[in-house]
Amino acid sequence: MSVNKDKTDKIIIDTDPGIDDAMAIHLAFADARLEVLALTSVFGNVFTEQATRNALALVEHAGSTIPVAAGAARPRSQTPNAPSHYVHGKEGFGNLPAPRPKAQPDPREAPQLLSQMCRQQSGEIILCPVGPLTNIAALLDADPDIAAHVKKLVIMGGAVWCPGNVTNVAEANIWNDPHAADRVFAADWDIDLIGLDVTQKVTCVQDDFEGLRQTSPDIGGFLADITSFYIDFYHSVVGQHVCMMHDPSAVIAVTDRDAFEFREAPLRVVCEGDEIGRTIADMQCGRRPVNVAAGVDSARVRKIFLDICAQADTMRSRRIAAS
Ligand code: BDR
Ligand code: CA
Repeated sequence: MSVNKDKTDKIIIDTDPGIDDAMAIHLAFADARLEVLALTSVFGNVFTEQATRNALALVEHAGSTIPVAAGAARPRSQTPNAPSHYVHGKEGFGNLPAPRPKAQPDPREAPQLLSQMCRQQSGEIILCPVGPLTNIAALLDADPDIAAHVKKLVIMGGAVWCPGNVTNVAEANIWNDPHAADRVFAADWDIDLIGLDVTQKVTCVQDDFEGLRQTSPDIGGFLADITSFYIDFYHSVVGQHVCMMHDPSAVIAVTDRDAFEFREAPLRVVCEGDEIGRTIADMQCGRRPVNVAAGVDSARVRKIFLDICAQADTMRSRRIAAS
């Protein structure tokens, strides 16, 4: 595999785990080019309490002790949508029972942890939200100058030039809190948006995960176990035994940005009416342009995911030995 970076990026993943969130988090832990500093949880695929518990379990599974801070339990303004249990399973990990992590959440709430860590390591941390943007909007409310301290955001969300996945026009993360997303896109910071325009083009099949079970039996086996549920969901929707690699694509956009093509576009989000949750490229809205991913080398992104995750157990052993 060609690795195009020799330095390490520090990231915090804001997440609603969720099957593809679990893939993204294990990918990030398995990639020596990333230092995962913390996770923050949010509602979306599951309730926030489940998301926090699942995030703690993923951290433990990866042999790490980084903090997990609980985030928002409901959207900024709108009535909450139901969790996507039909996509991710009742507990978020397909048919697996609820995990029982030993560690407790960090005492800080997500926005407080994000503010403190981004200020302590000013200009060094990449935020990678892969759920609704509620915590990130709350961070802007709590700490209005925070944008100057965040290196950049790499966000999974939106469907700018393609149809949505929860309505004809809306992608799930944006639809679950459109007001928060609009607040985040209005702020003056560097954003790469990895939306459905590209993530729907990156797919894997069950055999890919069975391969990971061979090379990395513990973490790869876990990913294979949970993904069968996710592939069943996609089969019911698209008629093929595949799954879309939404959240891992955002992590790969941190390490291998040149696998994507970007177009600059200021963004706004429709916050009411029939098109609620739609992400619109609006050249007249006067906002700082977002780098919206418009193209992707799908085969390369898929290969990066599989090559890196094949090392997941090895990386975990190294992490435990070093602690
Ligand atoms: C996004 O919505 C969630 O279901 C997935 O985890 C991903 O973050 C895809 O639209
Ligand atoms: Ca997610």
